[in-house]
Amino acid sequence: MTVSPNGSCDFVIQVQNLMKSYGKVTAVANLSFNVHKGEIFGFLGPNGAGKTTTLSILEGLQKADSGQVTVLGMDINTQAKAIKQQIGVQLQSTSLLPDLTVCEQVQLFGRLYGRQPTNSEIMQLLQRVGLGEKTAVFPEKLSGGQKQRLALALALINQPEIIFLDEPTTGLDPQSRHVLWDIIRSLRDRGKTIVLTTHYMEEAETLCDRVGIIDHGKLVALDTPGALINRLAGVSSITTSAILPFDGLQTLPSISRVQRSGTQLQLQTKDVPTTLRTILDLAEQNELSLNDLHIKQPNLEDVFLNLTGHAIRV
Ligand SMILES: Nc1ncnc2c1ncn2[C@@H]1O[C@H](COP(=O)(O)OP(=O)(O)OP(=O)(O)O)[C@@H](O)[C@H]1O
Ligand SMILES: [Mg+2]
Repeated sequence: MTVSPNGSCDFVIQVQNLMKSYGKVTAVANLSFNVHKGEIFGFLGPNGAGKTTTLSILEGLQKADSGQVTVLGMDINTQAKAIKQQIGVQLQSTSLLPDLTVCEQVQLFGRLYGRQPTNSEIMQLLQRVGLGEKTAVFPEKLSGGQKQRLALALALINQPEIIFLDEPTTGLDPQSRHVLWDIIRSLRDRGKTIVLTTHYMEEAETLCDRVGIIDHGKLVALDTPGALINRLAGVSSITTSAILPFDGLQTLPSISRVQRSGTQLQLQTKDVPTTLRTILDLAEQNELSLNDLHIKQPNLEDVFLNLTGHAIRV
């Protein structure tokens, strides 16, 4: 257990050796991690990695096969009811009630938590998620981004300490995604802890304070985005759409990894000059044009590729 500089433990979630299988499918394989108070903690992983299953156990919505989970110092097996009062949950797909206005949905959720939010509380909450103008609107008249923000407002109705967001920005256009990121950051800045899942590299890299890379139910890495990227210090990534001979490239000592992703060939190397010379020779021998050759510093996508052996979109 780590202890913060002032000597107190600031973990609001502690998970040890968490396991969950569905029949023969191992969804969560011996996961251990802690979440600090006031951080944006993100699980990054492909479809089926076990992100939703992990979250649903932390939220008390389903039981683990084994392992220990404490949330705000309480045991999830024995104190789930008390935990639920202090957490906010946005599920991967939130069903909004078609016959209730934005304001009425919030009122209903408040009552589910045994609260009677006043009109000014509801207005304040809706303004916080940028829906102050939409109180009397029915869900069918909301855009995708507005629906996601309403779902977030519903997760905030009980003034939770920890907010779980399962893919809060999936399917949104970049502008709506940025609006949601700002709202999530403002929650963090007010001392809330946010645990979210995402498929988006940029979201993990720019929004999350720490990122857990999860694949096949296992946590393959957990650190700040900067520290994760630093693991590839000295490595450069070269991409091209030229159809270079894949097998030949794989055997070259200057190239640490070769990956085809859609029409792109992606190479990781610590020796850019040698690799470039090789690529130029191969292109010449095969009469290929290299007019879209790019060299870049590694990002989280390269880290993911290195750790899991595959790109996230598979
Ligand atoms: N209720 C269930 N019954 C059987 N198998 C399940 C169930 N829920 C999840 N699984 C399986 O467990 C594994 C992990 O699923 P999970 O939903 O946790 O993944 P995820 O990382 O959230 O994926 P996505 O990014 O697609 O939401 C998958 O193989 C999935 O098929
Ligand atoms: Mg999921």
